[in-house]
Amino acid sequence: MRFSIASILAVSPALLSSVVSAQTYSECNPMLRRDCPANPALSGTYAHIYGGEASSFKYLAGKDMIKYGSSDGAHFRVEKSKDSPTIVSNFYIMWGKFEVTMKAAPGAGIVSSIVLQSDDLDEIDWEWLGGKPDEAQSNYFGKGNTATYDRGAFHTVDSQATFHKYGLNWTAEKLEWLIDDVVVRTLTPAMVKGDYYPQTPMTARIGIWSGGDSDNEPGVIAWSGGPTNYKEGPYDMIVKKIYVQDYSSGKEYRYTDQSGSADSIEAVGGEIGAGPQSGAGNAATATGSPSAYNAPSNSGRLPSSTSKSEATSGASGNNADSSESTHNSASPSSSSSSSAGANGAAYIATGGSSSGSSETYTGAASSTMAVKTAGLALAAAGLIVGWIL
Ligand SMILES: *[C@@H]1O[C@H](CO)[C@@H](O)[C@H](O)[C@H]1NC(C)=O
Repeated sequence: MRFSIASILAVSPALLSSVVSAQTYSECNPMLRRDCPANPALSGTYAHIYGGEASSFKYLAGKDMIKYGSSDGAHFRVEKSKDSPTIVSNFYIMWGKFEVTMKAAPGAGIVSSIVLQSDDLDEIDWEWLGGKPDEAQSNYFGKGNTATYDRGAFHTVDSQATFHKYGLNWTAEKLEWLIDDVVVRTLTPAMVKGDYYPQTPMTARIGIWSGGDSDNEPGVIAWSGGPTNYKEGPYDMIVKKIYVQDYSSGKEYRYTDQSGSADSIEAVGGEIGAGPQSGAGNAATATGSPSAYNAPSNSGRLPSSTSKSEATSGASGNNADSSESTHNSASPSSSSSSSAGANGAAYIATGGSSSGSSETYTGAASSTMAVKTAGLALAAAGLIVGWIL
């Protein structure tokens, strides 16, 4: 979960405001091991309007706490202690764009988040605290390093009352945080002390959790505005649309050494790019085309049944009118507008198919990731701290 190294090391809570969200666990960290599986590439774009399940995402935790029965989007819900529904993309992007149209959840102690995260713990965040209805927080981490405290920033936005599109535009030259297509923050590698600019292939994640749970670190509870009052819940983060665009192409991205440097990343069968690529597009498609998600055989994170059942669900026409689509190099606007018109219909179509395709998700293989005990987080943090030192 989201225990920070800093909080584990009991750094002053005053310093925690920008550090508590660091992910400190990765199934296989390529800076620590040489045998990590390559990262399956999106190599194209992925768009989803809720509706039903996002077929190119899997559940990290709390599958039952994502409610698809509402016309305004998927409700990621915290109702009781430990609820932390979270999804993660089956694919990775190497430079690219991640946009989520959503409303943040209310409730002191509740944290809504969208995250890009790599296997060696580069991370780019948007976060919303339930007790701060008019604020969003931007943040980033490089190589799991939480040793500096100037990464977080605050942005004024009515995040709970109104749907907004929160964007991350991530390239080698600069990283932009956007709200409704307006850049609200820019980070360049030169602005980052040390080699901690995020620069390795990222998964896209969406989730909500309770920072105000009583057994969290005191600093985490304080940062989140908690303790969480479950009697006033449930607390819903409402996600209407997801859009992801990969600026590189190929079948998969591979770490060729343990440096964690962008230069060490190889695009197998493709090219590391600075902008949208005309790759084959590896995300699951809902239109029944044969370009179903292409999981590499050696990937421990992606049981082969995932790609098979997604292909099946597309071919059977379950998602015939679905909002999910992949494009080789379509512009984001064309993709959103084509699906925007079918918003209501898309909801009905994909809502109907979601129950039928629910076993598509082999969440069991990965769901343990987000519910590791603090002990494991500690162990992982120890490894990272060891490495940093
Ligand atoms: C993303 O960044 C790239 C490179 O700086 C730029 O060309 C592109 O216009 C940006 N896109 C958005 C949506 O901001």
